[in-house]
Amino acid sequence: MSDLIPPSPSEEAYAVDQDQGDVFTIEDPIALFADWLALAHKKEPNDANAMALATVDETGLPDVRMVLLKDIDACGLTFYTNLESAKGRELAANPKAAIVFHWKSIRRQVRFRGEVELVSDEEADAYFASRARGARIGAWASQQSRPMEGRFALEKAVAAKTAKFGLGEIPRPPHWSGYRVKPVEIEFWVNRPFRLHERLLYARKDLESGWTKEHLYP
Ligand SMILES: Cc1cc2nc3c(=O)[nH]c(=O)nc-3n(C[C@H](O)[C@H](O)[C@H](O)COP(=O)(O)O)c2cc1C
Repeated sequence: MSDLIPPSPSEEAYAVDQDQGDVFTIEDPIALFADWLALAHKKEPNDANAMALATVDETGLPDVRMVLLKDIDACGLTFYTNLESAKGRELAANPKAAIVFHWKSIRRQVRFRGEVELVSDEEADAYFASRARGARIGAWASQQSRPMEGRFALEKAVAAKTAKFGLGEIPRPPHWSGYRVKPVEIEFWVNRPFRLHERLLYARKDLESGWTKEHLYP
């Protein structure tokens, strides 16, 4: 297996392709993140808005999975999911989360930590309505994170919901909505040669306070 892990880069490898220049050109961390995300969209092969979302279960055991960022503004980062999924149950018991983006193509990472709230019904309805019809049916058919007898059980559920809704409107399921992670910490990381990476941590006491920032040792 160890031949699957590349060796540590040589002096020559560090010298090429790693000069990123000044990447902290924007003061506001949300605007800085949006700037990095826009660059990642140009460079990543797909899903630059995919992020790892960490929660903890009721025993304190961490859990993590990928979700798609669907909105970001000064209030926080929004993603959508099944509220009865493992993450939904974990967030109901402990509404706090951590998020990490890693874009390999630009060798950058951004981390967020904060409390989590449900988005409004209006916001969730508007996003649900924008999804492809098949994805809206899927949200009704999938009992996300629950044991499934086999793929056929899912196909049967999709067929049943397709027949039920026919050509009519598909409302948002009551068990499906969005969460907003409201960050009190945002850390930007950029790759530099010889593992002497740059880290910039923005923090605030609460959502009403202003951001402070400091550099961290790599
Ligand atoms: C790139 C990527 C994006 C994903 N986006 C979402 C998403 O936006 N919402 C979601 O519920 N699951 C998404 N998933 C699936 C989740 O990773 C996970 O399998 C599912 O939500 C169940 O997680 P849970 O059992 O921890 O609740 C995505 C998976 C990948 C690989």
